[in-house]
Amino acid sequence: MDFLKVVFVILIGLGASACQKTIKVQEGVKWTSDQVNDRPDPHSYSNPHQVAVVHMNLSLEVDFDRKRIDGTIDYDLDRKTMDPLVLDTRNLMVDAVVDQDGRSLPFGHELSKKDALGAPLYIQLHESTRSVSIDYYTTAESDALQWLAPEQTADKKYPFLFTQGQAILTRTWMPCQDSPGARSTYSAEVKVPKDLMAVMSASNPTEKSSTGVYKFKMNQAIPPYLIALAVGDLSYKKIGDRTGVYAEASVVDKAASEFEDMERMLLVAEDLYGPYLWDQYDVIVLPPSFPFGGMENPRLTFATPTILAGDKSLTALIAHELAHSWSGNLVTNATWDDFWLNEGFTVYFERRIMEALYGRDYADMLQILGYQDLEHDVHDLGHKHPDTHLKLSLSGRDPDEGMTDIAYEKGAFFLEMLEQAVGRERWDIFLKQYFETHRFQSMTTAKFESYLQEELINKYAIDVNTEEWIHGPGIPSSAPLASSTRFDNAAQAALDFADGKSPSSSLTATWTTHEWLHFLRSLDPKTDAAATAKLDRDLGFSQSGNSEILALWLEKSIRSSYMDNEAELRRFLTEVGRRKFLVPLYRALKETDRLDLAKDIYQEARKNYHAVSRSSLDAMLGV
Ligand code: BES
Ligand code: ZN
Repeated sequence: MDFLKVVFVILIGLGASACQKTIKVQEGVKWTSDQVNDRPDPHSYSNPHQVAVVHMNLSLEVDFDRKRIDGTIDYDLDRKTMDPLVLDTRNLMVDAVVDQDGRSLPFGHELSKKDALGAPLYIQLHESTRSVSIDYYTTAESDALQWLAPEQTADKKYPFLFTQGQAILTRTWMPCQDSPGARSTYSAEVKVPKDLMAVMSASNPTEKSSTGVYKFKMNQAIPPYLIALAVGDLSYKKIGDRTGVYAEASVVDKAASEFEDMERMLLVAEDLYGPYLWDQYDVIVLPPSFPFGGMENPRLTFATPTILAGDKSLTALIAHELAHSWSGNLVTNATWDDFWLNEGFTVYFERRIMEALYGRDYADMLQILGYQDLEHDVHDLGHKHPDTHLKLSLSGRDPDEGMTDIAYEKGAFFLEMLEQAVGRERWDIFLKQYFETHRFQSMTTAKFESYLQEELINKYAIDVNTEEWIHGPGIPSSAPLASSTRFDNAAQAALDFADGKSPSSSLTATWTTHEWLHFLRSLDPKTDAAATAKLDRDLGFSQSGNSEILALWLEKSIRSSYMDNEAELRRFLTEVGRRKFLVPLYRALKETDRLDLAKDIYQEARKNYHAVSRSSLDAMLGV
């Protein structure tokens, strides 16, 4: 096949019109017949099954003035075939490609493409090429990166940078085989301004270096979406033997006491699913613009400061990210269509950790709130919608679209149903063995199904309908919903409020965040502005320092047209960039005919949001 035919095949793969797309290649490049892989992952153009990157060495320089990373990456290759190397890139500039002998290698790079997958980078290899070295730099459209000015940080003195790779953003800050089905080890040397510290999803410093140069090693093979970097004026505080926390100086003590149970979480998790294989487990608390609650970057979870509630009540999120050290980081979804294998297992596991630490009552409350989230998403999508299947079909779409509570909650309920069918003891043995057998491997839904069939269903002759859970829509009737007296009381208090009676302080004295959330969720959706104002006077919700309670309260306020707390709403939306909070609030404004207000706030707040949050909100608000 000659080069033109290759271009043609690539275009078919993209489903795009041929006339708009051309791949720029260096002159004289001839491509061989089998260079177009069959793309087992619909969201990556890379070909790890033909030419696998087994190790990457990153040399990076972080330039805050130009908001740019300049890098050289060496890729060690395992060449299973003589194909060219295909890497994912999006909005990156590639300067040069050479091999281990310094010979420059012809490369072709499609620059015109604008979709989420970006442009494949084709590199022609010599017969003797064993490693490839690429010089490149990032651009203003490198969406993984968020560059923060000093005033966007807690201490307001120094700038900050962090990356977010999942799902397909690592390719916007380095060329890579950006499929969760590919794995490599990495090492890195990163140069940053002298006042700042750099940390990665790797072995990390605990103090600043005098030179601004930091070295890192990740000796376990991981997929590119787990490569992460944060640079800022950071301090470190140890929590236990293998745990600790990074944050800006004014935050680090608060974070360390909020997360004081982290070492115990780690021990409990190991007890359930086997040894922690990443040596160290730290958390970095980022500035509030971080678009997620948490991100399970190996050895170093990235977390939002909005979980620092002061009473440890939002630390299930840490249990969740820690749990990914098994489900996700050790056994990884092969493609984003299998996302439930990462998140469903992790939510299930998170609740087991919380149960072991704080009791069954506590875990049941988390489970019921999760069920409500699931019902909500199924309702929004439609109970017959294919996106309510556990196994997704995201080909041709941005994988972000599949990242709903279906994967998380329906996934977790499926596993809990299996646990109940077979009994906890057998189930735990099964899970431990599952992680042990498949560690450092990727997993497809089909492979999991056959493992489950053999090692659990047939072995113990249980009668479960996996088909309707994995490949069917909606919430199967076998979902094992817990009951909670604590929640029954909170729901009763919400009913009593409909009769004009606010909950008494003697009743709420023992309430946790979860009971407050259940109370708010149980309020009559028709509660009007006057009644909402009364609640605020009696209970002071608008002044809550708990982000989960405040976010839900602000949404309730908007929907009841109680807008006396507009200033608090504006402050919250301007400070916090966590998408899970932003989307419901802007949506509530939009749905109650307050689009002008939504746009006014957004115009001020947008600069504080990461590209991940901006892209959801731009679409919703039509800007
Ligand atoms: N891995 C996810 C975050 C993520 C998912 C990033 C998809 C990009 C694409 C992380 O583990 C997560 O699930 N975070 C949740 C918190 C959790 C307690 C449910 C979040 O950020 O809200
Ligand atoms: Zn998760």
